Amino acid sequence: AHVWRGVLREFADRLGVTDASTVVTLGEGGTPLIPAASLSRLTGADVYVKFEGMNPTGSFKDRGMTVALSRAVEHGAEAVICASTGNTSASAAAYAAHAGITAAVLVPEGKIAMGKLSQAVAHDGRLIQIRGNFDDCLEIARELATGYKVHLVNSVNPDRIEGQKTAAYEVVSQLGDAPDFHFIPVGNAGNYTAYSRGYREEAARGVATKVPRMFGFQAEGSAPLVRGEVVKHPETIASAIRIGNPASWELALEAKSATDGWFGAIDDDRILAAQKLLAGTVGVFVEPASAISVAGLLDRAEAGVIPAGATVVLTVTGHGLKDPQWALRNTDGSQVEPLVVDAATSEVASALDLTPVQ
Ligand code: F0G
Repeated sequence: AHVWRGVLREFADRLGVTDASTVVTLGEGGTPLIPAASLSRLTGADVYVKFEGMNPTGSFKDRGMTVALSRAVEHGAEAVICASTGNTSASAAAYAAHAGITAAVLVPEGKIAMGKLSQAVAHDGRLIQIRGNFDDCLEIARELATGYKVHLVNSVNPDRIEGQKTAAYEVVSQLGDAPDFHFIPVGNAGNYTAYSRGYREEAARGVATKVPRMFGFQAEGSAPLVRGEVVKHPETIASAIRIGNPASWELALEAKSATDGWFGAIDDDRILAAQKLLAGTVGVFVEPASAISVAGLLDRAEAGVIPAGATVVLTVTGHGLKDPQWALRNTDGSQVEPLVVDAATSEVASALDLTPVQ
């Protein structure tokens, strides 16, 4: 039987890993590519979902964190630091715990999902809430990593991008070729950059016959790449991508033009509707930021940009359990109230509208 060994060992030749390399892994990568029949029916395309919530800490960040932490430990680092909207901090804290070193994590006060906050705490991260937004946190993390003995593991660290591009390798191997279109959420645009790089490598190696058009999506209130300027006060319920000044701005623009790509903006209501559609018709529960890939596909299909029969892959970046509150909210803003009945079989049968066996 084959046991998945994490991205550094599975893609050792591609990532320059040898038997002598330090490998800090929780077995990340190897995530499912799930056919989405309901989305295929809606759009006329052949749609697949790359479910990155299946990584050890519940997001795609683990692919990059295994590389960043391995290299940090190899270089003798005793502490790593990151700024985060939540998932990076969860991943950094978990991998640092596994490696036996310290992770300092800077997060915007009150603006990260409870699941992610609890992960950073559970893994003994040195969690600091900053009175500011993500962009403030990143600026401070970068300055600390320059002036103090602490190693930066945000996606401005190229090791992160190196690890994250393995998701594109996996898609090519799971589909037998690259897709025609790839839809992905964009915050700092590190992951957009990473997939673009991974796909281009596969095409250059002759493993894929094409490079997909990379379609990246930002939340309407946090869409600097769409607007072409920094957003000073980014707002969205998709807290993971509440970012006004993407760290990988230049790399993303390069990747966009190299892949004939596109950046679009989606409002919060459509993000939440897409989250519900994906959970209810595909069986994949993702956090709001991740559902923007689905909303983006519907938007582009409506615009007539997706030809019938095109192969489309959507990356959904984080698990729904990270930020479950949105699923428990009705579209009018009220709370979902699960039905309560007496502990009697007949009561339950009637509440479920079950038909008796004759
Ligand atoms: N989706 C999720 C669930 C994320 O957590 C992030 C980024 C993204 C998409 C966007 O990826 O930044 O590479 O464009 N989260 C970072 C964090 C900022 O701190 O966890 P990106």
